[in-house]
Amino acid sequence: MMQRDDAVIRPATLADLDGVHALEQACFDTDAQSRRSLRYLISRARSDFLIVLAAGHVVADVIVLYRRNAGVARLYSIAVGDAARGRGLGLTLLGEAEIAAVGRGCHALRAEARQANKASRTLFSRAGYCERERLPGYYPARARETAREDGIRLEKLLNPTE
Ligand SMILES: CC(C)(COP(=O)(O)OP(=O)(O)OC[C@H]1O[C@@H](n2cnc3c(N)ncnc32)[C@H](O)[C@@H]1OP(=O)(O)O)[C@@H](O)C(=O)NCCC(=O)NCCS
Repeated sequence: MMQRDDAVIRPATLADLDGVHALEQACFDTDAQSRRSLRYLISRARSDFLIVLAAGHVVADVIVLYRRNAGVARLYSIAVGDAARGRGLGLTLLGEAEIAAVGRGCHALRAEARQANKASRTLFSRAGYCERERLPGYYPARARETAREDGIRLEKLLNPTE
């Protein structure tokens, strides 16, 4: 468990399901994970699901997935609630995700972002991620849109000796 100002960062448990589900609903529209999926992700052995708690509420989370014998981890999701944004929590959580991935023996972390998601792309860029590949039509259309949206694949090499 890690303290950051008045916030605590720790792995999610099933007791946090209501909180992470509420955060998910608030942060994503078309890309929101279902409650069932979140339950699975919290329980999954090959994942790190970290949450930030402030005053007992889940205000941010990050999910990292691992595959057996793979040196590349996947940053599956990151979300910071509206009221907690712009204070460096996203960067802090990315750093925690990288530490977790190194701890699992991974040498790189990959993520995807919607091309139009400026906040996310800037966050990853500030954290040292390279935009490796364009992913045409990777994301479903947003609400009230018809066309699928392109994605960007991001990657950061993790060097535990630095
Ligand atoms: C993307 C997200 C996680 C950023 O969280 P955050 O805690 O506000 O991010 P930080 O405060 O750590 O910001 C880090 C950097 O990202 C950039 N950034 C963050 N929000 C931004 C925005 N709205 N527009 C442009 N740049 C932004 C800034 O460069 C910032 O650093 P700086 O303020 O020193 O310049 C948050 O906006 C979010 O949860 N969005 C909705 C869910 C989502 O899109 N998740 C990503 C899916 S890939």
